[in-house]
Amino acid sequence: MPTYRTLTSNFPWALDRLEWPVTSEVGPGLAGVIATGTRVSWLDPSSGALAYRGIPIERIAGEYEFEEAAHLLITGRRPAEDRDAFNAFRDRLRRSRDLPPDAVALVRSLHREVHPTRMLRAGVSALGCHEMTAEDELSGARHWRELRIIAQVAALVGEIARHRNNRPKHMFETGHSLAHCTLRALRDDEPDTRDVRTLDLLWVLYADHGLDAPTFTSMVVASCLADPYYNIVAGLSALRGPLLGGAGERVLEQVLPLRTPEQARLRVAEILASGGRLAGFGHRLYHIPDPRVVVLRKELAAQARRRNRAELFDIARAVEDEALRQLAPKGIHVNINFYAALLFHLLGADGPLIPCLYAVGRMAGLLARVHEALENPRLFRPLDRYVGHRERSLPREGAR
Ligand code: ACO
Repeated sequence: MPTYRTLTSNFPWALDRLEWPVTSEVGPGLAGVIATGTRVSWLDPSSGALAYRGIPIERIAGEYEFEEAAHLLITGRRPAEDRDAFNAFRDRLRRSRDLPPDAVALVRSLHREVHPTRMLRAGVSALGCHEMTAEDELSGARHWRELRIIAQVAALVGEIARHRNNRPKHMFETGHSLAHCTLRALRDDEPDTRDVRTLDLLWVLYADHGLDAPTFTSMVVASCLADPYYNIVAGLSALRGPLLGGAGERVLEQVLPLRTPEQARLRVAEILASGGRLAGFGHRLYHIPDPRVVVLRKELAAQARRRNRAELFDIARAVEDEALRQLAPKGIHVNINFYAALLFHLLGADGPLIPCLYAVGRMAGLLARVHEALENPRLFRPLDRYVGHRERSLPREGAR
């Protein structure tokens, strides 16, 4: 006989009753599973609608700086609703860029050829060792409240960029935005406001996107009530592979060697004919165009033009056109990483640094969701379906 369990009203998103043994339509990769409820963002893959705290992404993109979007996602309040509260939030973020020397020294002790995502993972771990003290609760509740980790990750990425380019450590100052400071670390010059806007735009668009692998991983770790530094290391690890955050790096490897749109079309046809995958195409949720791409495609056109790199945009369009001609019938479209990677490149990042830059944007949504989950924490514990042998006997000694 099945037994029934009624979940408490603390979990209004949950089904009223779970039947044991649970039956559900779960596809590979947890397709179709609703793991939690959220007020942070709304994503409808069938229409392409995406909204942060009820505001459509098309309204936020280009309008909000990253720090404003982070405030919206984490607190649920638009910055204009309470300017003082927002200013305090922003000041706290900017002050948090001041990294403990030990963490910077650890990153700088690594060989410059080490992949920057490995440096970032090591840097966040080092930060955790420095920030968590004997007085802190295991859950790091104070650190979740203080939100320093967002700017700490941005500052670490800046230091990693400087280290890889053999430039000295950054002198701390609080006046500028996270995007401004990060761009200066990438190029070692004073960034213009147009480029700062582009980095803000990229981070705003990467800030939250439902329960993708890094965010879901963070939610699982948060459900154990682990502190933010464990959490971010886990989230960053899930962001790394070529199927997700590593795709941007591969986009540059595939696109930058191309010289003309004609060559681009031939190369795409060649990759697909040989059964290869095009980085920056396909998505686990979208089988229609990703809404964020429209914004980034326009941004790439503008940024390429102002840098006299219009050919880069033409080549990107040729890659997209040829890929869509072949892949759109299968429901595969260009994803955010394609145009984002080319924009990061124009802003001065090389391929390996791209997942780190993606990670900075994602810090906002990840923290927003963990804050929400910690209101009513519950240890994640999904089920698996056993598909191995049912019963096997133990062979007697010597009878194998
Ligand atoms: N290039 C060529 N063919 C592709 C691509 C691609 N980028 N993506 C999927 N396909 C094909 C597969 O070969 C497969 O074809 P088949 O049915 O003839 O065998 C079919 O489309 C379905 O592929 P799946 O791997 O089952 O699709 P899934 O939805 O599981 O994968 C994924 C999604 C992993 C993103 C995939 O599209 C991919 O590898 N893309 C390239 C990497 C990439 O850009 N990742 C970023 C994702 S978006 C993000 O991170 C925000």
